[in-house]
Amino acid sequence: MKLKTVVFTLLLTVLIAYYVYLPLPDGIQEPWKLMMLDAGFRTTMHLASLMHWLGFYHYIWSIRHSTEGFEGMVKGMDSSDSDGGVMPGVKISDITFAGVPVRVYEPPAGGEGHLRRGVMYFHGGGWALGSGKKGSYDTINRMMSDELNAVVVSVEYRLYPEVHFPEPYLDCLNAAKHFLSMEVLARYAIDPERVAVSGDSAGGNLAAAVSQEISSDDTVSTKFSVQALIYPVLQALDFNTPSYLQNQYIPILYRTVMVRFWLQYLGADLSLQPQFMVNNHSSLKHSSITPELRARLDWTVLLQPKYKKSYKPVVVEKGSEGTVKEVPGLLDVRASPLLAGSEVLAKCPRAYILTCEYDVLRDDGLMYARRLQDAGVTVTSLHYEDGFHGCFSFIVWPLDFDVGRRAVRGYIEWLKNNL
Ligand SMILES: *[C@@H]1O[C@H](CO)[C@@H](O)[C@H](O)[C@H]1NC(C)=O
Repeated sequence: MKLKTVVFTLLLTVLIAYYVYLPLPDGIQEPWKLMMLDAGFRTTMHLASLMHWLGFYHYIWSIRHSTEGFEGMVKGMDSSDSDGGVMPGVKISDITFAGVPVRVYEPPAGGEGHLRRGVMYFHGGGWALGSGKKGSYDTINRMMSDELNAVVVSVEYRLYPEVHFPEPYLDCLNAAKHFLSMEVLARYAIDPERVAVSGDSAGGNLAAAVSQEISSDDTVSTKFSVQALIYPVLQALDFNTPSYLQNQYIPILYRTVMVRFWLQYLGADLSLQPQFMVNNHSSLKHSSITPELRARLDWTVLLQPKYKKSYKPVVVEKGSEGTVKEVPGLLDVRASPLLAGSEVLAKCPRAYILTCEYDVLRDDGLMYARRLQDAGVTVTSLHYEDGFHGCFSFIVWPLDFDVGRRAVRGYIEWLKNNL
């Protein structure tokens, strides 16, 4: 009897350890925490796929529900009650900007007649998940509002599967134009010369795209003064950059997951995934992908040797027919800001670009930093050698990482000094 219990416990332990254990590079700090996080995500994904397959509901909805449940649980454990206790002076309003739901954070009133900073924030989550009102996004927005004396506007743009490109982008653009109008800036007592646009991951993609559009649109008189991009997604033509290859199995953003997010965002058939993984979708046969366009994401030129290592470019001769026509958003700069020409980049505001070594999107961010610089834009390119994709969102106990806290601190400090 007793022996049975011991054997059972031992087996279970081994099984759990086997499920959780993942070999990670030495550079990653707190590896066990990341493994636990990864096991949690994997389990969620598997269960969600099962529910989808069984026909209960769309797998994205299951993932949304379970992350919400998890966040509620964490909130319950957290004694600091982030709904009121952390930054008690910050006023929250859930309203709409040009019909788009937003949450506005207003700093505690101080010094009558003083104008405040403005920050528009787009949350990450692969254009399918997440909400600016939840978890660490809400915490960071409150911190920013309080510490920067800023009116922070977090945009609840629509997500996949309800919509796909260009809807999420247009939601963000419309909210941004509304925010930058003289009337709204005056209503919130915001200094028109100190308004930032920012976002992480898919939100960084939206922030970069919106920033380009606003900068080039002569009908918008007030422009963003800075853009702060946290490990942004910027292109969908090359899924074999050194960072995509080096970090393809690093949690929490696996290469396959990122490719799938792209297909979903662009409204493409998910069966194209294997073709995208091997760059068949951007083969040399596609004459609409001109050499000039290719040069805009040519990492062999745009990356420093220490990032290129010994990786070789994956350029396919023939590939698959028709993908560019089937997926028209592929070459749209509003989806892939890295594809913009240097005349567009030159008009963009000063930039802060955060990249992480252990992130498939590292090279998207590094290439964009380089191209903006080449176009004459001042760029602060901050690279976290021990960072992994998503670390910016893990600052609240028990899912807190030291690198996440450093990244958030560094970001807020930069805004303090540059906005
Ligand atoms: C990529 O295209 C080549 C033709 O150039 C084809 O032989 C190969 O099967 C394709 N790969 C995938 C994964 O579809």
